[in-house]
Amino acid sequence: MEKLVITGGTPLKGDVVISGAKNAAVAILPATLLIDGICTINNLPNISDVKIYCEILEYMGAKIKWNSKNEITIDTRNISTTIAPYDLTHKFRASYYVLGAMLSRKGHVQVGMPGGCKLGARPIDQHIKGFEALGATVEVENGNITAKADKLIGNSIYMDVVSVGATINVMLSAVLAEGTTVIDNAAKEPHIVDVANFLNTMGADIRGAGTDIIKINGVKKLSGNATYSVVPDQIEAGTFMLAAVASKGDITIKNCISKHLDSITAKIIEVGGHIEDYGDSMRIWCDSRPSKANIKTLPYPGFPTDIQPQMGVVLSIADGTSIINESIWESRFQYTDELNKMGAKITTNGKTAIFEGIETLSSAPVYACDLRAGAALIIAGIIANGKTEIYNLEHIDRGYENIEEKFRKLGANIERVIE
Ligand code: EPZ
Repeated sequence: MEKLVITGGTPLKGDVVISGAKNAAVAILPATLLIDGICTINNLPNISDVKIYCEILEYMGAKIKWNSKNEITIDTRNISTTIAPYDLTHKFRASYYVLGAMLSRKGHVQVGMPGGCKLGARPIDQHIKGFEALGATVEVENGNITAKADKLIGNSIYMDVVSVGATINVMLSAVLAEGTTVIDNAAKEPHIVDVANFLNTMGADIRGAGTDIIKINGVKKLSGNATYSVVPDQIEAGTFMLAAVASKGDITIKNCISKHLDSITAKIIEVGGHIEDYGDSMRIWCDSRPSKANIKTLPYPGFPTDIQPQMGVVLSIADGTSIINESIWESRFQYTDELNKMGAKITTNGKTAIFEGIETLSSAPVYACDLRAGAALIIAGIIANGKTEIYNLEHIDRGYENIEEKFRKLGANIERVIE
């Protein structure tokens, strides 16, 4: 079994280069199934979710050439099956994007139920609502989702809930549909815009991504024959920004889009941190104990739920009592049990957590329960007195490329050890 061993107490200093966005990459990869051609994708994060997606695409008949650890050329001219097997799809959440892509490409598809971080119920009713609005029939049985459509015809769809996954999946199913589809109350995350930009680069006609209303004019074919670079990861950038604040360090994050980080920047300044914004890079430093703050997670451009655990570490050592209201997921506070093992004083009640700030955390053996909780525990280990051990690294490796190497280059005393 692998674990991370971190000896805490060193303020982080130096530069870190942000990788391509996981949540864009895991949508762009299945989007290649819409292309009857070849395309190249670079700035892919080298993470397990990407590697598993490539396995799924190859299983379905795609030919993938790795030009480097962060770039592939993919040929999707000969897709041999419309089935994505459960033993691969259950390993992460985004496997369900095969539904929208293959419904478009072939008119029928079967995908094993997705897995992913345990954050609550994670229903897919809005995905199904979108597919059915375009004329598909959808069934969920025996652990599989099956969708069929003789023809997909554009329609207007109002999302009952702002959903990243449903917005992307419906967009994928509308790209080759006959006529125009309008998605109202759409999610606006940077990864939504990135998927739309990728598809438009390959010949689609999608407008309004990044706003509440996305309009997709169906086209006959996507030819590919282009190269696309994945957007920098907003959540990885936010993770390092908060690590700088928590450790009272001074770091510069490179290859980011500072506009995507506005809500995080605002909170960092509110708790006493400092920011210098250079557009595609940012300097973050904090030379005092953070002040308390209250957080409410919201869809973009609100404070990202995927940064909530990392912010929880900052608030656990802040001067005063803070409150986090997690409005997106029913169960995203499991990480606070692990922080309380390290001396934090956090009480939770449903979607609300109260943080009574303490001076500093103490080391302990802790367990990552999901991807972002794992990232938060790394930050906690970096600031805690003593040697912290973090287990269940498979969660962390799903979404962060070489995370211990990146932190080590910033001065953290962190090692991956095989027990
Ligand atoms: C995406 O999950 C991200 N994952 C999550 O990041 C992120 O937390 C989430 O968006 C919110 O930003 C990927 O992009 C792979 P949603 P997704 O559909 O698409 C409800 C990470 O750490 N809902 O936007 O599954 C749902 O229950 C991961 O990178 C429905 O009710 O999230 C939730 O309350 C963790 N019906 C809310 O909408 C549906 O059909 C937002 O979920 C779909 C969603």
